[in-house]
Amino acid sequence: MNKTISIGIIGGTGSMGRWFKDFFSAGGHRVLISGRTTDITYTDVAKECDVVILSVPLNAAISISKDIGSLLRYEQLLMDMCSLKEEIVKSMIGSTKAEVLGTHPLFGPFTDSIKGQNIILCPGRGERWLKWIENEYTSRGAVVYEMEPLTHDRHMAVVQGLTHFITICMARTLQKMNMDSDTVLSCSTPVFKINYNLIGRLFAQDLDLYKSLISKNKHFKEILEVFVSVMDESKFALLSDQDDNTTLFMENIREFFKDSCKDSLKESNKIINALYS
Ligand SMILES: NC(=O)c1ccc[n+]([C@@H]2O[C@H](COP(=O)([O-])OP(=O)(O)OC[C@H]3O[C@@H](n4cnc5c(N)ncnc54)[C@H](OP(=O)(O)O)[C@@H]3O)[C@@H](O)[C@H]2O)c1
Repeated sequence: MNKTISIGIIGGTGSMGRWFKDFFSAGGHRVLISGRTTDITYTDVAKECDVVILSVPLNAAISISKDIGSLLRYEQLLMDMCSLKEEIVKSMIGSTKAEVLGTHPLFGPFTDSIKGQNIILCPGRGERWLKWIENEYTSRGAVVYEMEPLTHDRHMAVVQGLTHFITICMARTLQKMNMDSDTVLSCSTPVFKINYNLIGRLFAQDLDLYKSLISKNKHFKEILEVFVSVMDESKFALLSDQDDNTTLFMENIREFFKDSCKDSLKESNKIINALYS
């Protein structure tokens, strides 16, 4: 395979698109980008590039994949970077004869380097470009995992859906308690400061993206049901008058996480120390 590849990023004017434009350009590839107002259209990108990447919101990605699918040749790759994979991988496979690959970089556009970052690959059709992209990512330090789209989306219902849901609920609670930033910062512990920054981080960014990570994941309702039942269970166990019950409840959870708790303690100490350095 030719070492210098032409890569077209549809949505290359957006934050992830710009990040990957720089990444692939630094890898020596020719990168073309299109947005809704650029002179280069997504049709141009589809016709001209070896690798065509959809880096747009999910609904737009599905619709664009249908528009450009028939323009692509067998030897090209159609790939996406959407945060949910079932619908878009199905749509890409149905729309084209080209090779198809779903990908999800598990990091955002503020990340300095790809080193150590996880990227999920959901193979759709073909092996040739799959090996190429694996090499592009792993040779520069990323950690790549292959996964079925359904498995990916189920995991993301927890990793993204539940995480952001809890952050929003925490923010709403602070709002209801009228705990403004001055009050919060004057009595923050390091752990609370981190949580508070994570709240600000979410609300400083595109709310539609966060909303869609929760509401468009069809597995989230099931996860939420588990979470709500766990809240009741935890309320009962932690507010119980019998100390033994509370201890057993906590020990039972610790048993599940085993030695990873010690690793997490070390990792979180690094975060705390970095916060005050
Ligand atoms: N942000 C993250 O942390 C992150 C992480 C992993 C994956 N992702 C995924 O990456 C994709 C892009 O996210 P992003 O954060 O880069 O979003 P973004 O900054 O809002 O950029 C969106 C891009 O899509 C284009 N676009 C928006 N609506 C469109 C439409 N209806 N038709 C055609 N193009 C449209 C925009 O073009 P204009 O120039 O015309 O506005 C822009 O180039 C999403 O699928 C997201 O789920 C995001």
